[in-house]
Amino acid sequence: MITQLRTRLASNCTRLIRSPTALLSGVVLAAISAGCGLSTSGESRLSAKSSAIAKDLPCEDFHVDDGTEEGHSSHLGCTGLYSSWWQRVIAPDVREFAPGYTLWSDGADKGRWIFIPPGSQIDTGGKSGSGTMDTWTFPVGTKAWKQFSLGPRLVETRLLWKRSAGWFRATYVWSDDELSAIEYTESTGLLVEGVDPEGPGYEIPPANACVQCHGGGPDTLLGFEAIGLAVKEARGLTLDELVRQELLTANPDGAYLIPGDADAQEALGWLHSNCGTACHNDRRLPGPTQLHMILKTSALAAVEDTDTWTTAVSQLSRYRPSPFCRESSWFRIAPGDPACSTIPYRTGVRDEYPGPYFNQMPPLLSHRVNPEAVETLRRWIATLPAQPPPELGPFTE
Ligand code: HEC
Repeated sequence: MITQLRTRLASNCTRLIRSPTALLSGVVLAAISAGCGLSTSGESRLSAKSSAIAKDLPCEDFHVDDGTEEGHSSHLGCTGLYSSWWQRVIAPDVREFAPGYTLWSDGADKGRWIFIPPGSQIDTGGKSGSGTMDTWTFPVGTKAWKQFSLGPRLVETRLLWKRSAGWFRATYVWSDDELSAIEYTESTGLLVEGVDPEGPGYEIPPANACVQCHGGGPDTLLGFEAIGLAVKEARGLTLDELVRQELLTANPDGAYLIPGDADAQEALGWLHSNCGTACHNDRRLPGPTQLHMILKTSALAAVEDTDTWTTAVSQLSRYRPSPFCRESSWFRIAPGDPACSTIPYRTGVRDEYPGPYFNQMPPLLSHRVNPEAVETLRRWIATLPAQPPPELGPFTE
């Protein structure tokens, strides 16, 4: 433990700047100077860490009256994730989970936890509720956290909390020495530099950006859903565990495994969690010509049953890097021809920071390509039998 702390403290200070040019908030500046300005050895920083957080956090000092019944806390340590801030003990009623397929976050490692108020259930289609197995509705009081680290350094922990008047969204930025994690209240992203030699850095989103993705979920949460928690790669509070602990109002009527061979499963799972759950679904992009990459529990019998297949494969792409790809057209997925498929193309490009992001997908926050995902998509598309070219209509959609 001590060795681990020493390693962390010895690591170089990461510079934080708020994008594009504005000044840091006082709190973040204080956190940075606490972590970066110290000229003392790692040993004395370690004891500073001990004394500063040996006593319980005075949570009343961090309470923010934001006009809601519950208010919220400006310190992560007071949000309910930890039963002991000093020892970093996760509260016993908070459960860890990991969906089988996750969102690429520019190489950050992530941890996720959820709190479901004792005695309540998630509405997944029981008699009285409005939820379904594809559109879960969470009980008031539900909280979910997602923690991001870069190498050994904790960077931010995000919170989604269903309060009586609606969802609270925030991220808490860890100071360099990990003594504190304070709510980030600015309206533009915060860039953590020095973590990616090839890109501008890792971007912490402002609270107003959460809804751009989480607004596409049926009830805000995106990764805590049937398919991501059913696949064999899921961990912690999985779909099986939810059933076992009687936390769902209706239990699954199938295994909800992704169809196809290993490449197809990986590609469909990746597109589901990186594109489908937040934006490319019929909630966000209604209409028959839209590209939908969300998987549905009722459409998993074969790869061809999925929305990803029906709305992408052999469908002309509205977005075209140039009018033609060789002599052919660009397709969302051109079977057998990954080089003329816009889905791997846009997954594999990044626009220059700080935007505008016209080409890259997803069109926000990410500044580094995930080469493995691009490779998986290309490999899968390359195996699809080429189809006779459809009649080319006007590119009106
Ligand atoms: C670019 C889209 C995007 C943005 C912006 C975004 N998220 Fe997420 N978030 C996701 C996706 C997709 C998942 C599920 C996949 C995963 O966890 O890797 C997720 C998962 C989470 C989770 C775990 C619970 C869940 O929904 O599965 C929390 C908590 C969370 N996000 C909080 C936030 C907060 C707070 C913000 C804003 C400060 C935010 N997110 C901004 C896409 C986004």
